[in-house]
Amino acid sequence: MPNQEITAKHRRLAEITEMIHTASLVHDDVIDEAEMRRGIPTVHSSFTNRVAVLAGDFLFAQSSWYLANLDNLTVVKLLSEVIMDLAEGEIQQGLNGFDTSLTLEAYLEKSYYKTASLIANSAKAAGVLSGLSAEETMHLYHYGRDIGLAFQIVDDILDFTGSSETLGKPAGSDLQSGNLTAPVLFALEEKPFLEVLIEREFAQEDDLEQAIALVKDSQGIQRSRELAASHAQAAVGHLSGFPITESRQALLELADYVLSRLY
Ligand code: IPE
Ligand code: MG
Ligand code: MG
Repeated sequence: MPNQEITAKHRRLAEITEMIHTASLVHDDVIDEAEMRRGIPTVHSSFTNRVAVLAGDFLFAQSSWYLANLDNLTVVKLLSEVIMDLAEGEIQQGLNGFDTSLTLEAYLEKSYYKTASLIANSAKAAGVLSGLSAEETMHLYHYGRDIGLAFQIVDDILDFTGSSETLGKPAGSDLQSGNLTAPVLFALEEKPFLEVLIEREFAQEDDLEQAIALVKDSQGIQRSRELAASHAQAAVGHLSGFPITESRQALLELADYVLSRLY
C-alpha cells in the first residue's frame, strides 16, 4: 500500500460510518418495534417514536456534515450511496414480508442493501483516503461486501439459536414479523407445512412455535452456517494481494470474529 498510515481523516471516516450505522439502528428499532438493543431500552421505547425518528435524522444529517468536511468527493459519493441503500434494504424487507416465494438471491440482495453496503463502501472509502489503486479499492469493497453478508447471515441464525439476553435484543422476532431469512428459506425446501404457516401469517395458535420448530428440525441452520462461512472465506480471499501488515491481520481476524459469534 502506498501509504499505510492511519490519518485523522481515516478516524473521521470510521466515526461517520459508526454514526450512519447508529442512525440506521435507531430508525430500524422504530420499524421493528424493538424494545431492547445492546441490552438497554431503545430510543423510541425510552422516549417516543417522534423522538427516535428525529434523533435518527439528526445523526444522518450530522454524518453528512462530517462527510462533506472530509473534502473528498469520491468518499462523499460512496457514503451517500450507503444511506440510500439502507433505506432500500428496509423497503425491500418490508415489501417481501411473509412471501415464501422469496429467493435466496433476493434475500442476499436485500442483505447487501441493509448491511453489507455500509461495510463495503466504508472499506473502499478508507482505501480511497489512502490513495490506493482502483483495483485495490475494488478488493476492499468486495472484502466488506462479503464480511457484511456473512455478518447478516450470522445475525439471522442467532435470531433462531440465541437468547434475548446474550443478543441484547429480542430473539426469534424475524420470522414472527415475516422477515424470511436464510435458515427459513433453506428450511422451506424440506418442510412444505412451513409454507402454509407463513402464508397464513401464523394466524392460528402455536403456528409460530411450530414454524420455529420446523426450521430447527431442518438443515436450515447448518446450511446457513456454511453460507456465512463461505462469504467469510471469500472476504479473506480479497485480501490476498495486500502486503502482510497489522491492518491486514486485523481484517483477517474480523472474518473469524464474525463467524465466532455463532459459537
Ligand atoms: C438491522 O436490521 C438494521 C440494519 C442493518 C439497518 P435488523 O432489524 O435485521 O437487525 P436487528 O436484529 O434489529 O439488529
Ligand atoms: Mg431490527
Ligand atoms: Mg429490521
